[in-house]
Amino acid sequence: MMRSGWTAAVLAGAFVIAAAAGAFAQGKGDAKAGAEIYKKDCAKCHGDGGSGDGPQGQKLKDKPSDWTKGGGGLKDLNDQQVYEAIAKGGGAVGKSKAMPAYPKLSEADVWNVVAFVKSLKK
Ligand code: HEC
Repeated sequence: MMRSGWTAAVLAGAFVIAAAAGAFAQGKGDAKAGAEIYKKDCAKCHGDGGSGDGPQGQKLKDKPSDWTKGGGGLKDLNDQQVYEAIAKGGGAVGKSKAMPAYPKLSEADVWNVVAFVKSLKK
């Protein structure tokens, strides 16, 4: 009786530590959740792999940059600026206004997409 209670407490403690470590390692967003949003809203311009080759992007005067080549347009943006570019549109960070704003996404969702976008950077 005593012993199984102790084991449960140790397991619960280990779980809390593992969960906290996981959240820390991931930073602010969850790239997996961001991937879903990216596929639906962004790939048509930025391309499935982030190389800027989405069919809708090809028709724009200002073409999306290739994130897979040294970071492309992401290179000189910090996390907060990437966030602003998505939430408020390209104009908010001095990029093309062809990059639309996404006020429909929650703050958490924008951070999820930020995490995914950064994972495409090579
Ligand atoms: C209508 C086409 C279009 C859609 C849809 C679109 N973008 Fe963009 N995006 C652009 C263009 C064009 C730029 C500007 C590229 C530049 O100035 O280098 C841009 C710029 C950006 C930037 C700034 C970094 C850079 O490469 O300039 C980020 C970050 C970004 N987009 C993320 C997203 C995300 C995330 C989504 C989906 C939620 C999205 N975009 C949807 C066209 C689009």
